[in-house]
Amino acid sequence: MPSYQLSVNGKKYSVDADEQMPLLWVIRDLIGLTGTKYGCGIAQCGACTVHLSGAPVRSCSFPVSAVGEQPVTTIEGLSDDNSHPVQRAWIAEQVPQCGYCQSGQIMSAAALLAGNANPDDEAIHAAMNGNICRCGTYPRIRKAIKTAASYSH
Ligand code: FES
Ligand code: FES
Repeated sequence: MPSYQLSVNGKKYSVDADEQMPLLWVIRDLIGLTGTKYGCGIAQCGACTVHLSGAPVRSCSFPVSAVGEQPVTTIEGLSDDNSHPVQRAWIAEQVPQCGYCQSGQIMSAAALLAGNANPDDEAIHAAMNGNICRCGTYPRIRKAIKTAASYSH
């Protein structure tokens, strides 16, 4: 079985995994970071969103062999103390209901704001459209993204 050297949240990990193993399984089962969730397994819901070199990817459908040197950031890597602006805004706006989709929502929002400090409704829709929330927290998600953006102004 091949061995992979991964950089996850700034730490180095060596994992033995089948080349087709989804990055999500590596993160959760081999490395033990369980903040990233499994929803659909077919790149349709966004629950498993992590950052690869800062860009959002669906880790359920991304093979570990394709990660290479690209640094991975999971929800645990945004901050140690919930101080990332998106985390602060999510708390301030009390976004989660059941919470299951929320680490994926937060990672998509964080990637959006890293590239666009003041996104309009259209940009928010484009970035967040693929993250499904069965609890319907969408209005609070949109509000929290604007709140997070306001922290940097
Ligand atoms: S679990 Fe990956 S997109 Fe749904
Ligand atoms: S908060 Fe329950 S699925 Fe989004």
